[in-house]
Amino acid sequence: MSISFDRVASIYDATRGLPEAVLEQVTECVVRLTSATADTKFFEPGIGTGRIAVPLVQKGYSYTGVDISEKMMDELRSKMQGVPNNLTLLKADATSLPFEDNCFDVALTVHLLHLVPAWRAVLAEIRRVLKPDGVFLHCHSSASFSGYDIFEKQWKAILEQHEFPLARYGATEAEVMEVLTEQGAMLEKVTAAEWNSSRTVGELLYAYQGRFFSSSWQIPDNIFSQAIQELKDWALRTYESQETVIYSNSRFELTVARHWS
Ligand SMILES: C[S@@+](CC[C@H](N)C(=O)[O-])C[C@H]1O[C@@H](n2cnc3c(N)ncnc32)[C@H](O)[C@@H]1O
Repeated sequence: MSISFDRVASIYDATRGLPEAVLEQVTECVVRLTSATADTKFFEPGIGTGRIAVPLVQKGYSYTGVDISEKMMDELRSKMQGVPNNLTLLKADATSLPFEDNCFDVALTVHLLHLVPAWRAVLAEIRRVLKPDGVFLHCHSSASFSGYDIFEKQWKAILEQHEFPLARYGATEAEVMEVLTEQGAMLEKVTAAEWNSSRTVGELLYAYQGRFFSSSWQIPDNIFSQAIQELKDWALRTYESQETVIYSNSRFELTVARHWS
């Protein structure tokens, strides 16, 4: 089973987009950590709409991306008004890559491994296609210790009461770190950017109601409609109005894995 993002392709950038200044910091950090040169070949399984890829492609780096969702890659194609020469896009499953061994200098995953039940196979494939001195960047953004987190915890608690815990399809961060460490990688954790954002209670409820996040996609409709009503009731009791603004502190974090071959 794989979790395609077809269903949210058209709203992905609007709901997950990073502020421009953050994107610049992330791009600069990736270039610095990988000592990228004009010859560096980047690879991203689960490239999606190219949220992270586009600035690197625009800087002229050779970038190859695969995804199981053609619709997500269509968003990327339309954003770039086509596919520039230095970008290669293929529909492929990250658990079985259509590439020879040792062909990329840098591989990045951004919000992928927690989605794929066969995440160990994804790591094995990334390791296979990376050159012996290649670098793997395992990346994610998080909004912990924030207002959004309180919302998410409540949603989780409501679903547990309905005996339908929130889905986690693939690896936890700890599991990824464990495998990389066991396989001899040298790991370095880096925070590429930190920023504040805000949303109203109404905007957050709209996102939950619209099943914007993959962890809600497997919930049967009858449980979902009861649970969402309970979330709305809780939110209005807690925050009083849909207009109340909730603040969040977010981070974009990378784990750099070197000597992993
Ligand atoms: C959360 S999105 C992240 C997209 C992009 N990396 C980013 O950070 O914006 C995850 C992407 O991985 C894709 N995906 C999920 N399972 C996959 C698999 N087994 N092989 C390739 N792509 C996969 C989804 O279709 C989706 O486009």
